Amino acid sequence: MSNSIDLEYTLSPKRLRHSRAVADFAVSLSDRYGLAIDDDELYQAGLHHDLAREWGDEALLRFTIDEQVAVTDEELAHPVLLHAPVAAVVLERAGMSRAQVLAVRHHTLGSSEMGVMGRALFCADYLEPNRTYISDEERARLLEEETIASLCLKVVEREWRHLIQTGRSIAHASEAFRRSLKEEVEA
Ligand SMILES: [Fe+2]
Ligand SMILES: [Fe+2]
Repeated sequence: MSNSIDLEYTLSPKRLRHSRAVADFAVSLSDRYGLAIDDDELYQAGLHHDLAREWGDEALLRFTIDEQVAVTDEELAHPVLLHAPVAAVVLERAGMSRAQVLAVRHHTLGSSEMGVMGRALFCADYLEPNRTYISDEERARLLEEETIASLCLKVVEREWRHLIQTGRSIAHASEAFRRSLKEEVEA
């Protein structure tokens, strides 16, 4: 990146800890699944993926409108989701690569356009060791999945179960992501 972003000022200690853990975990996933991506690029995408997560709805909406960020109606209706497209724009302007920008752009709901870096980031965001909703045993079991696509699919399905159990709806973007992963895994 040409312009560095000081995450120490942007993120709470807890979010910074999560961000570092996601970066480390994403690199370990890349190694585990033999993903042909640059470790440093992946690490930086992981480290910065949540840089706008603590801005608050108003600031996210203001940035989205002022900077004409391309977002979906679902993201506008649930402004916390805007932290992904907003971070992607900030990182693009800071000089991150197309792969990094797409990975960060789609890290919340997933997308067939997120690329292999996006898949590593998406799974790492869910599985990093500070996450308490998943036991070490289940994490280890998930990591027995043979491909990053099947791991992503398992992660999405686990997320869905939680959403359904807590009475929440599934985003259209997430539905499309699951469909594309399922087609790929079952092909
Ligand atoms: Fe996030
Ligand atoms: Fe995150």
